[in-house]
Amino acid sequence: MDHNRSRDSLPGPEHPRPLGRSRVYTPGDLPKRLVEWHSPRINRWERLCITAGMLAIEMREASGTACERLEAGESRWIAPGVRWRVAETRPDTRFEFEVHADTLGQADAPQTLRSELLDAAGRVTAADSEGLNAWAHELAPGERRVVGGGFELNGSIVHALTDDGRFFWHPLADGPGGFAALIAHAERPFGLAEYLGRDHAVIEAALAGSLRGDGEYKRWLLATLERHLHIEEELLFPAYLEAGGREAWVHGLQNEHKYLRQYLADLDDPGNRRKFLRLLDGHDEKEERVVYPDILEHLGARAAALLVKSKTFPIPAVMHTRVQES
Ligand SMILES: [Fe+2]
Ligand SMILES: [Fe+2]
Repeated sequence: MDHNRSRDSLPGPEHPRPLGRSRVYTPGDLPKRLVEWHSPRINRWERLCITAGMLAIEMREASGTACERLEAGESRWIAPGVRWRVAETRPDTRFEFEVHADTLGQADAPQTLRSELLDAAGRVTAADSEGLNAWAHELAPGERRVVGGGFELNGSIVHALTDDGRFFWHPLADGPGGFAALIAHAERPFGLAEYLGRDHAVIEAALAGSLRGDGEYKRWLLATLERHLHIEEELLFPAYLEAGGREAWVHGLQNEHKYLRQYLADLDDPGNRRKFLRLLDGHDEKEERVVYPDILEHLGARAAALLVKSKTFPIPAVMHTRVQES
C-alpha cells in the first residue's frame, strides 16, 4: 500500500461546516465505539487527523473489508454511512477527529437534508399480503422499495417479514385506503440502535420531501415521526429506566419530544421550521451517539425483544390518513 498517498484527495463534503473536534485519542483511552463497527450518521462527515504514530482503520465495503494505514500528518474523510473501526494503533499513536455537516444546498436548514432514501427507493404496489411478501423476497441485499397496497395491512404479514431479521420495515402511511412502507433488505444483521437510527433517516428523508412542498412526504413525516416518538416513549425509555438507566436523560429527551411536536404543528412558519430543524438534528444525533449505546448497555440481551416490538410497531391511529387517493 502506498502510505504517502494524500488521503485528502479522497472525496469529502462539498461545503464542510465544522461542528466539533474530538479530544486527542491515544491507544490507552480509545472509546469503545471507535473500535467497534460504526458509521457517521446521515448528513455527517468525519475527518480523521493523525498527529503522531500510525492508525490502521478497517472499512466495510460491498466487496469485503478494506484496511488502510494512516501515518502521522495524514487525514482522511469518512463519508456518511460508511462503516469503519479502529483496527490497530502503535503506542505513540495520537489522533483526533472532526465532525462536519455538508452545507451544500442548505437554505434555512442546519444540515443538508437528503430525501434520496425515499426518492430513489423505487415504488411498487402489492395486490395483497402474498404479493407484499413476494416483493420483499425479491429484494437483493442492499435494495429497498417504497411498497404500497390498497388493502388493510394485517399484523401477521408484518411479523412474518420482520421475524425474518433481514428486513428493515418502516411504515410511512396507514389508513382506510391502504398503506405505504419502506422495506429494505439489510446487507448484514442489524440491532435495535441501527433500526432506530435508520428510522431517523427515514424521518429526515420525509422532512426533506416535505420542505420542497410534497404533500405525500408531509403526511409521511407526520406519521413516521409520531410513530418513532411513540416507540421511544412507550417501549424504549420505560425498558431503559427499568434497567437502571439515567432518569435525567429520559426527562430531557421527553421534553424535546414535546417541543418537536409543538414546532411540527406549524412548519410553514419560518421561525418554527428553523427551531424544528435544529432541534431534530441535535436530538437524533445525541440519541445515536450517546443515548442508544447507553440503552443497549443497560438492556443487554433484552434489546432483541425490543427490536422485534419496534419493527412491528404500527403508525398510531391518530396519524392514520386516507392513503391511496388516486
Ligand atoms: Fe427521541
Ligand atoms: Fe429517536
